[in-house]
Amino acid sequence: MKNLRAWSDHLRPKSQTPPQQTRKTTSLLVSVSVTLASTLLTIIPIYYSSLRYYPSFLWTSSVSSSSSTSSSHGHGVSAGVPSAKQFDLFTGEWVPNPDAPYYTNRTCWTIHEEQNCMKYGRPDTGFMKWRWKPNDCELPIFNPYHFLELVRGKSMAFVGDSLGRNHMESLLCLLSRVENPVEVQLQRWKLTGYNFKIAHFWAPYLIKAERADANDPSYTALFHLYLDELDPEWATKIVEFDYIIISAGHWFFRPTLFYENGQLVGCFNCYRENVTDLRFSYSYRKALQTAFRAIYSSRNFKGLTFLRTFSPQHFENGSWNQGGNCVRTRPFTSNETRLEDINLQTHSIETEEFKVAESEGRKRGLKFRLLDITFASLLRPDGHPSRYGHLAPHDNMTFVNDCAHWCLPGAIDAWNDLLLQMMKMEDGRSFDKTKSSWAFHFF
Ligand SMILES: *[C@@H]1O[C@H](CO)[C@@H](O)[C@H](O)[C@H]1NC(C)=O
Ligand SMILES: *[C@@H]1O[C@H](CO)[C@@H](O)[C@H](O)[C@H]1NC(C)=O
Ligand SMILES: *[C@@H]1O[C@H](CO)[C@@H](O)[C@H](O)[C@H]1NC(C)=O
Ligand SMILES: *[C@@H]1O[C@H](CO)[C@@H](O)[C@H](O)[C@H]1NC(C)=O
Ligand SMILES: *[C@@H]1O[C@H](CO)[C@@H](O)[C@H](O)[C@H]1NC(C)=O
Repeated sequence: MKNLRAWSDHLRPKSQTPPQQTRKTTSLLVSVSVTLASTLLTIIPIYYSSLRYYPSFLWTSSVSSSSSTSSSHGHGVSAGVPSAKQFDLFTGEWVPNPDAPYYTNRTCWTIHEEQNCMKYGRPDTGFMKWRWKPNDCELPIFNPYHFLELVRGKSMAFVGDSLGRNHMESLLCLLSRVENPVEVQLQRWKLTGYNFKIAHFWAPYLIKAERADANDPSYTALFHLYLDELDPEWATKIVEFDYIIISAGHWFFRPTLFYENGQLVGCFNCYRENVTDLRFSYSYRKALQTAFRAIYSSRNFKGLTFLRTFSPQHFENGSWNQGGNCVRTRPFTSNETRLEDINLQTHSIETEEFKVAESEGRKRGLKFRLLDITFASLLRPDGHPSRYGHLAPHDNMTFVNDCAHWCLPGAIDAWNDLLLQMMKMEDGRSFDKTKSSWAFHFF
C-alpha cells in the first residue's frame, strides 16, 4: 500500500509546513538547505537564452568523432552500440503529433487515479498531442508489437519512487493496445501472450532507509539513510530480471540522517547540533553508487540496466505549498528554458555516477545505459496533473496541485519511445533514418 502513498507522502499537508519553508532563499546554497518544498518546488524561472546549459560531454552528437564502442565515457545511447553512427536522442524539441494519444482512460484500465487527468476534468487536450523530435534523427513512436517481440519471455523491473511507477504505468497503457496486462501480485504485472513480466519495486531512496519514527503522522519525519547498505526489497531480486530501470531523486530533499558503516556521518536538513549538514548531493551520490554496486557486483544478474534520469517538476508562481501551480498548456521550446539548480545538480550527479557504473559494468560484461529524459521533460510544464489528479480516498490530505507526476496519456509516454529506441539499438539493429520513419507510420 505504500506505493499508493508515494505522492501523498511527497506532498505534506499545508498545515504541516515547517517554519523554515517560508524563509526567503537567495542563494543556491541556502535554497538547497531547506526542504524539498521550498527548493525543488520553487518558481522555475524562464530564461530566454540560446545557451544550451548541458555540459557538452553528456551528449553524443551526430558529428562526434567518437564512434568507438570502447569509449570510456558512459554515453547512454552510444556506448556499446554497434552502429557506426551515433545519435543524440536527448536533445531536441517537441513537435505536434496529431495522431496522439495512442490510448485513453477507456482503452487502458490501469491509469492511476492521481494521473487520470481527463477523468478529473482537465479541460485541455493539446498536451497529449506532441512527440519528441531529437535534433539529429527521428524518434519513432512506441510500437507495442515491436517492444513485445523484444521482450518475449523476459522481465523488466522498475526500481524507484512514484515517478518510476508513473513511467511503468505509461508502458502498461501503451502495451494494452496489444494485450491487457494482468496484475498477478501487487505491482507485478504479466502479459501472458508474450510471457512478459513487469514489476515495480518501491525504493524511493534505492538503498536501505527507515522512517525515524514509524508512528509519526507528520510527513516531515526524518528518514535514516544507510548510504552503504542495499535495499534488500529489490537488490536480492534483480537476478530474476532481464531489464532494470532505476530512478530516484525527489525523496533526497527530505530531512534525512546519513549513516555509513553504521555510524551517523551527517545529515540533510536535520538541524541537529553537532551533525554536519552534508546536503542532499552527498546522499544521492552515495545511494546511486550503492545501488549500482548492487547491480554490477551481483553474481548472477546478466541483464541490461537503465538509469532513468531526474524528472523535473514545474511549479510556477509559488512553491507547491504556497499556491504554486502548473497551468501551461504547451511545451517550451528548448530556448525558453534551461537546466539549472536542482535539476542540473541531480542530473550531474546521475551522469557522473552513471559513468563510473557503466565502466565497472563493462569490465564484468554488464551493460548500463542512460535513459536521459531530463531535458525533454523539462520542456513539458504542460504535462502534469495540476489540480486534475485525485488522491485515493483513504488519504485524508488537502490536495495540492501536482506538478511532479505526469498525466496519462501524455508527455511521459515519450519516455517509452526513448526506452524502446534504446532497446532496439541494443538489439544490434543500427538506427536507420528511413526505417525509423517507416516505423513511425506503421500505425
Ligand atoms: C475517462 O475520461 C472521461 C473524460 O474524458 C471521463 O468522463 C471518464 O469518467 C473517464 N473514465 C475512466 C474510466 O477513467
Ligand atoms: C555538541 O557538542 C558539544 C561539544 O562537544 C557538547 O557540549 C554538546 O552537548 C553537543 N550537543 C549535542 C546536542 O549533542
Ligand atoms: C503567474 O501569475 C501571473 C500573475 O498572477 C499570471 O499572469 C501568470 O499567468 C501566472 N503564470 C503561471 C504559469 O501560472
Ligand atoms: C526559439 O526557438 C524557436 C523554435 O525552435 C524559434 O522559432 C524561436 O525564434 C526561438 N526564439 C529565440 C528567442 O531564439
Ligand atoms: C480519514 O478520516 C476519517 C474520518 O475523519 C477517519 O475515520 C479515517 O480513519 C481517516 N483515515 C486515515 C488514513 O487517516
